[in-house]
Amino acid sequence: SFQVNYDETIAKIEPTMYGIFFEDINFAIDGGLYAELVKNRSFEFDKPLRGWTELKDKGLGVRFFPINTNNPRNARFMRVQIDEPGSGAGLANEGFRGMGLKEGLPHDFSIQVRDIDGNVSAIRIELLDSNGQVIANSRVEGINNEWQTLTTSLTPSKTEAKGTMNIWFEGVGTVDIDMVSLFPSDTWKGRKNGLRADLVQLLADLDPGFLRFPGGCIVEGFDLSQRYQWKNTVGDVDERVVTINRWNFEFDHRPAPDYYQSFGVGFYEYFLLAEDLGAEPMPILNCGMACQFNTGELVPLDQLDPYVEDALDLIEFANGSTDTKWGKLRAEMGHPEPFNLKMLGVGNEQWGPQYVERYVPIVDAIKAQYPDIQIIAATGSDGSIFPNGEEEIEYLWKEWKRLKPEIVDEHFYRNPDWFMENADWYDSYERTGSKLFVGEWAAQSVGVASPDNKNNWETALSEAAFLTGLERNADLVTMTSYAPLFAHADGWQWTPDLIWFNNLDSYGTANYYVQKLYSNNPGTHVIPLEKDNKPVTGQDGLYASATRDENAGELIIKIVNTNNASVNASFDVLGAEMGATVSAQVMSSKDMEAYNTFEEGDKISPRSESQKVEGGKLSYDLEPYSLTVLRIEAK
Ligand code: AHR
Repeated sequence: SFQVNYDETIAKIEPTMYGIFFEDINFAIDGGLYAELVKNRSFEFDKPLRGWTELKDKGLGVRFFPINTNNPRNARFMRVQIDEPGSGAGLANEGFRGMGLKEGLPHDFSIQVRDIDGNVSAIRIELLDSNGQVIANSRVEGINNEWQTLTTSLTPSKTEAKGTMNIWFEGVGTVDIDMVSLFPSDTWKGRKNGLRADLVQLLADLDPGFLRFPGGCIVEGFDLSQRYQWKNTVGDVDERVVTINRWNFEFDHRPAPDYYQSFGVGFYEYFLLAEDLGAEPMPILNCGMACQFNTGELVPLDQLDPYVEDALDLIEFANGSTDTKWGKLRAEMGHPEPFNLKMLGVGNEQWGPQYVERYVPIVDAIKAQYPDIQIIAATGSDGSIFPNGEEEIEYLWKEWKRLKPEIVDEHFYRNPDWFMENADWYDSYERTGSKLFVGEWAAQSVGVASPDNKNNWETALSEAAFLTGLERNADLVTMTSYAPLFAHADGWQWTPDLIWFNNLDSYGTANYYVQKLYSNNPGTHVIPLEKDNKPVTGQDGLYASATRDENAGELIIKIVNTNNASVNASFDVLGAEMGATVSAQVMSSKDMEAYNTFEEGDKISPRSESQKVEGGKLSYDLEPYSLTVLRIEAK
C-alpha cells in the first residue's frame, strides 16, 4: 500500500499552476476563436482579393481597384467601378474554409462604404449554403459620398458549415468599400467583435490559472517585419495592422497561403479574456529576434529601443492610470480599471548569446521602472528540437543562474514513452531560485508536429503520468500549459492539439480532459504519497501525486495506471480522519490508439463514481490504462 501524510506539506500549489497557452496557429484565432466570418475583410492580405471572388455576369462590366490609403494602420480599401451590371455585380467571400452559419440565429453584417458618383445607392447581401442556395438575404441602403458604416442582420433558414456570402452592388457607378464583416450574434457574453462562445466555454471549463499569449513562434515572426507588435493590435478594429501569420508558409506540405492576423483579437481582447476566465494574463514579447527556426533575423543592439518601449508601454497599457497615454487607451477601449499584469515574458523559444544580449537591456529597463513585474525567460525546448540541443540549454541555464529571472519557460515535444519515463524529471532538478513554467508540452504519437500525430489515449495517459511529476514538484514548477491549444479541422499546421473545431462544432481531446482533471482538482498543498519511502514515478506501472485542499477540507489523489490490467491501490493515510465516501473521476480506455472525434467528442472523458470507505481504509480498484482522481473529506 501507499503512505500518504495529510499533515506534511511538501509545497504550496500556486493558483497559477494549470493554465492555457494561446497562439494563432491552426486557425486558432482568425478562423477560430475570433467569431468574424469574413476573411480578408479589409482587403489587406498580400493579394487584395484573396478570399474574395469577383461576381460579374457581363464580363468586363465591373472592375475592382485596391486603393492604397497611405495610412499604415488602415492600408487599403476596395474601389468597385460598375460600368454595366448586367444581372449583377458583386463580390463573394469564402470565409475561413467556408462560413459556419446557424439556422434561426441573427448574423450581424456591417460594411464601411462611400459612393463616389452618387449612382450606387444600395448593397444586397446573401448568405449561401454549400450548394449555392440562398439561405438568408438583406440589404443596406442610404449610401452617400461620406464614409459610413451600414449594418443589417441576416437569419439563415438552415445551418451550414461551409457557407459563403455574396454582396451585390445596386446601380451603375463607383463605390468604395472596406471592413466587410459578418458575425454570429451568439458570441461569448454577446460581445460585439466577439469570440466563439463554444470555444471560450471549453477554456472556461478548464478554470485556467493563467493565460499565455500571443504565442509561440508568432511572437517572433518569420522575420522581424512580421513579428507580433502589440501596439498594432489595439485601438479601433479597423485601425489594426493586418499582418501575415508566421504559420502562413508551406509547413510539411500543409500550405496556408491565406493565413493572416486581422488582430480582431489583439492584446486588449486577450487581457479581457484572461479576466473573464479568472486567469493571470501572461503576455510574451519579442526581444529583437525573429524565429530562429526561420530567418533568425536580429535587431542590432543599438536599435533595441523600440522593443524596450514596447515592454514599458505594455505595462502602462495593462496597469497604468487613465491619465497615462496607454492607460487612457485601455480606458477608451472600455476598461478603465487596470488589468493587474504581474508577469511578462521576454522572448519565446530563443537561444544563444544573441538572446541574452537582448534580454538583459530589456529586462533592466523593465525592472528600473517596474521592479515588481516578474520576468519570464526562455530555455526554449528540452534540447530535442534545438539545433545544438543540450549545449544550448546548458548555456542558457548558466546565464539564468547568473541573471535570476523569476521564472524560466521550458518546452517538451517528445514521445509518450519519454513523458512516462520522465515523470521524475524535476525530482532532482537544481533549485536555482527561478521558478519553472513548463510552458509548451505535448506527447507526439509519431514525431514532433508530424501530420500523422493523433491525440490518442496513449499520449494523454503519458501526459497524465508526467503531470504527477509536475504537481509533486510544485515548489519549483508554478505554471504549466499544453501546446498548441486549438486546431481547425480544415486548416491546421501542427498536430497534436488540445481542442479541435470546425466552423460549427468543437470538442476536447482526451489530452484536454486530462488537463481538465488536473486543473479542476489542484488542491492547495502537495503532500507526500510514497511507496517504500519513494514517490510513485512508474514503479509497477503506476504514477501518483497527492494534495490537500485546505479550502474544501479534502484529500485529493491522482493516480495513473499504465498496466493493461486493473490494480488495487490502497492508501494508509496519516494525519487525518477520512470521510465515509470517496468520490472518483476516472478516465480509461483499453484501446490506447482511441481518440475523440466530432462524432464522439467525449468518447475518452472523465466518468464520476463514488464508493464507501470500508473500515476507515481507503482503497480503489484502478482500471487498466486509467487516470483516477480521488477526492475524500479529511479532518
Ligand atoms: O506550439 C507550436 C510551436 O512550438 C510554438 O509556436 C513554438 O514556441 C514551439 O516551437
